[in-house]
Amino acid sequence: MSSGGIVVAIDGPAASGKGTLARNLASHFGFHHLDTGLTYRAVAKALLDGGLPLDDEALAEQTACSIDLSNLDRSVLATHHVGEAASKVAVMPAVRRALVEAQRNFAQRRPGAILDGRDIGTVVCPDADVKFFVTANAAVRARRRYEEIVGSGTAVDLGEIEEDLARRDARDSLRADSPLIPATDAHLLDTSEMDIETAFLEAKRRIETAMAEKDGN
Ligand code: DC
Repeated sequence: MSSGGIVVAIDGPAASGKGTLARNLASHFGFHHLDTGLTYRAVAKALLDGGLPLDDEALAEQTACSIDLSNLDRSVLATHHVGEAASKVAVMPAVRRALVEAQRNFAQRRPGAILDGRDIGTVVCPDADVKFFVTANAAVRARRRYEEIVGSGTAVDLGEIEEDLARRDARDSLRADSPLIPATDAHLLDTSEMDIETAFLEAKRRIETAMAEKDGN
């Protein structure tokens, strides 16, 4: 148990539905929310904008140290190109160290903080009060991402999305530092067939139980 407010860790692969779940839960409970993927995306975007290499660890670390968590603009960071660059930047331990420190500070916020990412329950907040691992099979995730992109008015090929997700999954899951794996004490939410409302209700129930337990201590 953490000594600050309630800490909720939500991990899972790209397009699993973890972001929507985290936002809905944060809004319901009045907790702070940090999409930690945006922190890696911000580093990648700053390097891309500066015409700088994505694999210079010292440079990327310096960039990571200057990222302002209060100024993460989803509308410019959400692009596919930035996501791909972010997953390359995210393999570098010095970048992770810098961002994880900022993420841990965020997790202290009261009355509670919900962080979503790949390594929240395992590395960033191993003592989180509640942990979820949100997943869905590859075909469902690709279809979701496809509909999201087509819905925003951009033409895209479903096969290409499937390949991109598979490449991203492999890079995120096989890297040496903080790979994407469920924490042993995480509650698994498979959204392949479960709709977002059912996942929300299940997660809400678990958080309420954790809050009641924390109050009793
Ligand atoms: O969730 P996302 O697509 O915004 O994440 C972008 C990349 O950032 C993802 O490919 C892996 C990396 N990432 C990470 O390594 N650890 C996190 N806690 C969050 C994201």
